[in-house]
Amino acid sequence: MKENNIKGGDAPIKCELEAGKNYAWCTCGHGDAQPFCNGSHRKANATPSMSFTVEEDKTAYLCTCKLTKNPPYCDGSHK
Ligand code: FES
Repeated sequence: MKENNIKGGDAPIKCELEAGKNYAWCTCGHGDAQPFCNGSHRKANATPSMSFTVEEDKTAYLCTCKLTKNPPYCDGSHK
């Protein structure tokens, strides 16, 4: 985990993602809108958000612990 980053949670959050929509996944853990960025990284001097889109509507489990090796998706690293 990078300096000034923290865990945003201990388990993934189930999200309904829409095709073509731009999402900003929180990478720093400071935001209180997990798993998405709310700009808190600026005040915390932590890492900025990671933008992503999906090609089709889908349900996904997005990482909140920030330890995943497959961001923004949970890969089980929180366990
Ligand atoms: S919540 Fe981060 S890997 Fe599962």
